[in-house]
Amino acid sequence: MKQLVLVGYPLGHSLSPVMHNAALNEMGLDSSYRYDIQPTRAHELQTCVQSIREGSLEGANVTTPYKTDIMNYLEEVSEEATAVGSVNTLYRSEDRVAGCNTDVSGFLESLKEYGVSLKGRHATILGAGGAARAIGYALVNDEVAGLNVLNRSLARAEELVRNLNTQGTCDVHVGPTNTAEFDFNETDLLVNCTPIGMVGHSVTETPLGSKNLHSDMVVVDLVYNPRRTKLLQEAERVGCLIIDGIGMLVHQGAEALELWVGKKPPIEVMRSAVIQALGG
Ligand SMILES: NC(=O)c1ccc[n+]([C@@H]2O[C@H](COP(=O)([O-])OP(=O)(O)OC[C@H]3O[C@@H](n4cnc5c(N)ncnc54)[C@H](OP(=O)(O)O)[C@@H]3O)[C@@H](O)[C@H]2O)c1
Repeated sequence: MKQLVLVGYPLGHSLSPVMHNAALNEMGLDSSYRYDIQPTRAHELQTCVQSIREGSLEGANVTTPYKTDIMNYLEEVSEEATAVGSVNTLYRSEDRVAGCNTDVSGFLESLKEYGVSLKGRHATILGAGGAARAIGYALVNDEVAGLNVLNRSLARAEELVRNLNTQGTCDVHVGPTNTAEFDFNETDLLVNCTPIGMVGHSVTETPLGSKNLHSDMVVVDLVYNPRRTKLLQEAERVGCLIIDGIGMLVHQGAEALELWVGKKPPIEVMRSAVIQALGG
């Protein structure tokens, strides 16, 4: 049995095993591959990479808090993951262990499902953590006309903006730490990259007041549990096109699975497994 794992700490209740094992089952690969969580301490990261090199692990997803630290142990990191500064997928490439970041393409694929093109849009990102770095990279490389980054810690937003301004062709600006002080009239794509609204964190909260939303906005929430966050509920009421975080979760997972097994995974089976695990 070839073992695939999710590496992070703490891992809590992850949807990745249910999503990947459903796909492996559908592909007829469930007797060859198995995906499990592997809670891992920082000092065990090097051993984990060695296990992939030697073949006792077939591959891994990497999550919080190791998406950056893991890069120190890899022999090959994709250009995209280097630019984003984080790796979420490990795979064997000949006798080397390589890392890439499938969050970028996962996000772009999830927008494509709704026919949303980024070219010429004025985007605003809420948050400046790991997910925001991947989304920012995707946006500036997919030709948005302008990008603002709003985060409660100014220094972190400034660091992300500095980095994004070296990567794309549009101007990236830092916004105020308080969303109430920002004028969202020009924003036609809003992406919540904070955990605000997530089950177990702040399910009754939204990262910005509904008076900031307008019907020309596309509102994307990376939070996928609950599927319809308070932000998305309010955006829907205003008439915005809303996109939840499940599409990105599924597409980033599918790209990783394809790297490990060499076949296109069944996207809809993965999506159904996630939705069912979230309670339908
Ligand atoms: N759909 C998907 O496939 C997908 C993929 C990746 C992540 N996500 C989701 O995206 C969210 C962010 O993940 P991440 O990995 O970027 O986390 P992270 O690296 O910890 O970053 C979290 C960001 O949110 C901000 N934040 C956290 N709590 C806040 C609060 N109460 N008020 C205001 N700002 C707050 C943080 O601000 P500071 O800088 O001030 O701390 C930081 O900028 C999570 O909910 C995660 O589940 C979804």
